[in-house]
Amino acid sequence: MSHIITEIRQHCLTITLSRKDKKNALTREMYQDMANSLIAIKNDGSTKAVIIKGDGDCFTAGNDINDFAKQGDNAEVPETAAFMRALAACEVPVIAQVHGLAVGIGTTLLLHCDFVYATPDTRFVLPFINLGLVPEYASSYLLPKIAGHIKASEWLLLGEPFGASEAHQFGLLTAIVEQSAIDEKVNQTAEKLIAKPSFSLRQTKSLLKGDADNVSQQINEEFDIFLEALGRGAAKEAFDAFLNKRPINPEKFK
Ligand code: COA
Repeated sequence: MSHIITEIRQHCLTITLSRKDKKNALTREMYQDMANSLIAIKNDGSTKAVIIKGDGDCFTAGNDINDFAKQGDNAEVPETAAFMRALAACEVPVIAQVHGLAVGIGTTLLLHCDFVYATPDTRFVLPFINLGLVPEYASSYLLPKIAGHIKASEWLLLGEPFGASEAHQFGLLTAIVEQSAIDEKVNQTAEKLIAKPSFSLRQTKSLLKGDADNVSQQINEEFDIFLEALGRGAAKEAFDAFLNKRPINPEKFK
């Protein structure tokens, strides 16, 4: 059974992450399903907005660590790349609706969205360094641009959680919206976008994303280092510790 629910209604594609018992941790199958749904709207000419949100008590706990652990040395991650590249290349505006938790790629993917609404309780974290990994999907390029080098360094070099007000202050969010109102707010924004002329909507987004070549180049550079990190002892120790619910052994995390 797929853990991604997609619906196209009134020119809007909604993608819902639905793996509640695992905090919507993203598996390879989920990435592929999301990639497929974004690729499918690419040339339909009628979809004018995308909403991404999570079921249950959070947006997502990030990449499924079982999948990371299984990948082994220098393994390719084609499904994740397919999704993130389809998201980065999406021609119509993407609205993220975030609540609870946005871990790892759950925060990274927000940098490729056009509107991000989050509830006041949301915790964001880019924990790659604490897993022996490195930033991915151009977050090491986009975050300093959005939040400044100093804040990006804090988030990426310490890998500690931060709240919605800090995320908003440093430019990651369109607005903070109470849980009871966030569905309506997101739907209103989607409706406003859908009412715009298609050519102007797509071209305005394209002009705003004029930096696509640099983003793509950084994704490639990060990817090589990410794959190398996946095969190193520090990452293996971090994954094993998480999966066996034990603390990391500092002797093996160097
Ligand atoms: N990959 C795989 N499984 C995950 C997961 C992930 N990223 N995040 C959560 N889960 C699973 C847990 O193993 C647990 O499964 P179980 O019920 O079979 O034991 C279930 O989801 C619920 O998570 P739990 O840890 O009990 O919830 P919590 O509220 O105490 O903590 C988190 C939530 C997100 C803080 C914690 O699960 C966590 O740190 N997850 C890892 C996040 C991460 O590092 N992601 C990778 C980023 S690159």
